[in-house]
Amino acid sequence: MYRDCDRNDLTGKSRSFLKTYPEYQKLFPSFANVPQAQLLKNGNFLAQSYTIAAGLNVIIQSLGSQELLAQEMNHLGTTHFSRGAQPHMFEVQACYCDIS
Ligand code: HEM
Repeated sequence: MYRDCDRNDLTGKSRSFLKTYPEYQKLFPSFANVPQAQLLKNGNFLAQSYTIAAGLNVIIQSLGSQELLAQEMNHLGTTHFSRGAQPHMFEVQACYCDIS
């Protein structure tokens, strides 16, 4: 999945997400203050977009094992909770990734 993603499509969806919810950008220290119009040219933003895709790939690869899936989801929940990301933010992001 990660390898086959269309670059512009993937990063474009991340930008659309932050354009709709600009307050979420503040959660990302490495590009918190980058103007929206420059996000697609910002290396830290692009890296975060691919990090999300890689994270989704890990989850998909874990689907065959309930134990592994639970472990990965717990890990994602823990790391995100500590950074201020809340469950409702994931729900709206799913719409932008066409994974709902
Ligand atoms: C299914 C969707 C998502 C996946 C797979 C995902 C995946 C990841 C991964 C793999 C990391 C790096 C983890 C680490 O450093 O330990 C990360 C970091 C982060 N994620 Fe997500 N994420 C998702 C959705 C979200 C959402 C919706 C938000 C909030 C709007 C968010 C906010 C953050 C923040 C703030 C960081 C830390 C960035 C930093 O410190 O530079 N993520 N995410």
